[in-house]
Amino acid sequence: MRLAGKVAVVTGGAQGIGRAYCEGFAREGAAIAVVDLRREQAEATAAALREAGARATAHAVNVADQAEMDAMAAAVEREFGRIDVLVNNAAIYQDMDMGDQSLEYLRRILDVNLLGILVCARAVFPAMKRQRSGSIINISSGAAYPDRLGMPARDLETVPSFAYGLAKSGVVYYTKTMARALGQYNVRVNAIAPGVTMSEATRKVVPGPIVERLKAAAALGRTLEPADLVGTVVFLASDDSALMTGQTLSVDAGVAMLG
Ligand SMILES: NC(=O)c1ccc[n+]([C@@H]2O[C@H](COP(=O)([O-])OP(=O)(O)OC[C@H]3O[C@@H](n4cnc5c(N)ncnc54)[C@H](O)[C@@H]3O)[C@@H](O)[C@H]2O)c1
Repeated sequence: MRLAGKVAVVTGGAQGIGRAYCEGFAREGAAIAVVDLRREQAEATAAALREAGARATAHAVNVADQAEMDAMAAAVEREFGRIDVLVNNAAIYQDMDMGDQSLEYLRRILDVNLLGILVCARAVFPAMKRQRSGSIINISSGAAYPDRLGMPARDLETVPSFAYGLAKSGVVYYTKTMARALGQYNVRVNAIAPGVTMSEATRKVVPGPIVERLKAAAALGRTLEPADLVGTVVFLASDDSALMTGQTLSVDAGVAMLG
């Protein structure tokens, strides 16, 4: 087991891809804090993880609220004694109101999907600094690279590629600047940019024809399932990636070929 003895905080862990991350961490021996606005689903996910033999707690908090996240981190340390991994996966995605183009709403998306990453990192950083170790994994998206999506520009209007894509581009930037700042404490910061992944959220948000186009643009000619992202998140959480920091890994069946 590659994460035995480690403690992982997974934001947006109640459902979808975040839940798959939690299940992957449980299989690798980690204790898990499931953090999500969706209280009932977070509790159900934590209960399922415990049933599978893992240690797990649920925390119904808002990743954009520093006081709530600080209280969550303190509770995780009380319960499990340390924090080794933070996966910044929560985002307004399934819950996106595609019709709302008001400035106020765009600010809300940036607040949760971009600044939420900073808020959560600040909440867990004191524990990681004390331990002189930690791995922060930020979830970006192929939407951060609109020039590589392989779609006509007109189609980009129908996927959440403006405030959402801007936030996910900022995630790549934060990943580099955080990695530079926190490396002195042996805290690593990396990101994953998933391609179109067939979570319940994607089925709701991304129109079928766009999914087909993205599939056609992928070198491997397919979309992802949430389970396809688990190996990469476990790798970044584990000591197997001990000398990697500041990197964004594109896991998208070969659409955005970075580097
Ligand atoms: N599904 C895809 O195709 C895809 C592709 C690239 C990146 N992503 C990213 O992967 C992550 C997970 O995506 P998903 O498909 O599972 O979507 P999802 O909408 O099902 O999951 C997001 C989770 O975050 C939670 N959340 C939202 N706002 C929150 C807040 N303020 N505080 C706490 N929790 C909050 C939601 O309740 C939800 O459980 C997101 O960051 C998404 O942007 C998804």
